[in-house]
Amino acid sequence: MHNKLDETAICTRLDTATQAGLCKIHVFQQLDSTNRWCLQEGQCGDVCLAEQQTAGRGRCGRQWESPAGSNVYLSLRWCFAHVPPHLPLLSLVTGLAVAEALEDCALAGHGLKWPNDLYYADRKLGGILLEAVGSLEQVVIGIGLNVNMLPEEVAVIDQPWISLRAIHGDRLDRNVLVAAILRRLVTQLQEFPMLDMARFRQDWQRWDVLAGRPVRVLSGSQVSEGVAYGVDTQGQLQLKGADGSLRTFSSADVSVRM
Ligand code: BTN
Repeated sequence: MHNKLDETAICTRLDTATQAGLCKIHVFQQLDSTNRWCLQEGQCGDVCLAEQQTAGRGRCGRQWESPAGSNVYLSLRWCFAHVPPHLPLLSLVTGLAVAEALEDCALAGHGLKWPNDLYYADRKLGGILLEAVGSLEQVVIGIGLNVNMLPEEVAVIDQPWISLRAIHGDRLDRNVLVAAILRRLVTQLQEFPMLDMARFRQDWQRWDVLAGRPVRVLSGSQVSEGVAYGVDTQGQLQLKGADGSLRTFSSADVSVRM
């Protein structure tokens, strides 16, 4: 098994359609952030991977813990011909691609927590951060996946987390995982301008870890409680209140009420 990220080991696992959708795979020992690199130095279709990030970017200005040699820190610069009409769904569709890729690798039990988190047993397994390049038809898609990291390797992370190694007991080959993610992601991106939103909603339901659970939704300074009721065709979270009313949220932080 390869312990290091390796461009050739990834490329040999890609089908020709995926290879055709990509430009070059760049592997770095250390970067501040693979998203930053793709935004400033990447070309359309470039994939950037780093063994370690010194300033990994998370959502809402948070830092993404990125110790050396154990996880996947991947960014892809993707250029659409035109701004897709349902661009806000792109980060959710990226989540679908990652969840399906893990399933392709015979991994099970994971799901998606709206909007952008990969979860396993109420713990965070991975996260997604999309950044626009300027003009909205170009985006950088950043994926962080906890693969071989163990609790003793990292400083305290401010939320419950887990890694694939902690779940499955063995170290996993990150090159295999990266290739599986790229295969699913490039397919989703090529089809994205023609996205069938009803189909998207069905696909999301399959992975939704919040559906039917009592949740607290923090949107700006407003807190709402209710039962998570899946997403609508715009990818907005639906919340059913105690009075039966349905509210939707396009961006918010959600936590499950115990
Ligand atoms: C989150 O807060 O859940 C999103 C985390 C996204 C982290 C990934 S790691 C690869 C890419 N480069 C970054 O600097 N961030 C993203």
